[in-house]
Amino acid sequence: MADDTTGSRHAVVVGGASGIGWATVRQLASDGWRVTVADVNGGLAEARAAELAGPADAEARGHEHRVVDVVDESSVEALFSGNTPDLVVTTAGVSTLGLVTDHDTAEFRRVVDVCLTGTFLVLKHAGRVVVEGGSIVAIASLNARQPGRGMAAYCAAKAGLVMLAQVAALELGERGIRVNTVSPGFLVTPLTEPVLQIPGLAEEYAENAAVPHRGTAEDVARAVLYLADSPWMTGEDLAVDGGAQLRRYPDVLGLATKAFS
Ligand SMILES: NC(=O)c1ccc[n+]([C@@H]2O[C@H](COP(=O)([O-])OP(=O)(O)OC[C@H]3O[C@@H](n4cnc5c(N)ncnc54)[C@H](O)[C@@H]3O)[C@@H](O)[C@H]2O)c1
Repeated sequence: MADDTTGSRHAVVVGGASGIGWATVRQLASDGWRVTVADVNGGLAEARAAELAGPADAEARGHEHRVVDVVDESSVEALFSGNTPDLVVTTAGVSTLGLVTDHDTAEFRRVVDVCLTGTFLVLKHAGRVVVEGGSIVAIASLNARQPGRGMAAYCAAKAGLVMLAQVAALELGERGIRVNTVSPGFLVTPLTEPVLQIPGLAEEYAENAAVPHRGTAEDVARAVLYLADSPWMTGEDLAVDGGAQLRRYPDVLGLATKAFS
């Protein structure tokens, strides 16, 4: 459904200021969508919205930025209040490392809060306003399927996110709204740059894929756009990982411990 004022379809990308979210914003904008870049990092979101196609085009198409913190329900509610988007993409996520028996409980809760409860809050408030025929895409992870030692919080949150999206797909399908997830393998973004300091890890990720292609945020964005325009797809978790799900997950904690202790 086209936006009333600009004739473009409207997408809200939560976590849209960086990495996979920003690549998705760019592809949507170049495909003619009007995009709201929503992020907890308001300064970067503002810069991104302005960057989309230069100030003149941003004004014409109405790209905008919003500040949102997915763990704060009132801010998520405010983001969607008065909005009727055709597509909502939610990518906000954080990670941590720690063995189950040693894990700091507050840190465990922080990761679950952003990755799982944050996605729930987006589904709750976006699900009320997305137009009939529209869709929601949430970014899960290879770790929704593959456990990694020391990654309990992240793996549990991402696996929960996939099931949450499937339940939402059942419920929102009654109103013609589709809900899907994309599960990327390892790719370099500001989130994962620090782990590249662990010697041997990037090589392990590469060895564990089935094809030599090194994944990019653009590869993931393409899958998001595909799901957005696939009217018979809902409740799907699309792996975009070069076949890494077919093998084993690298021992991130083991390599980090060896390198830094
Ligand atoms: N990079 C990878 O290898 C990889 C692999 C699998 C899954 N993922 C998932 O993809 C998603 C995007 O990751 P990325 O690599 O692009 O990371 P990123 O850090 O580059 O981008 C994440 C964005 O989310 C925003 N954000 C963080 N917390 C937020 C909050 N509470 N409210 C609103 N926005 C918030 C950040 O400000 C940032 O702009 C995450 O959910 C991540 O778990 C990433």
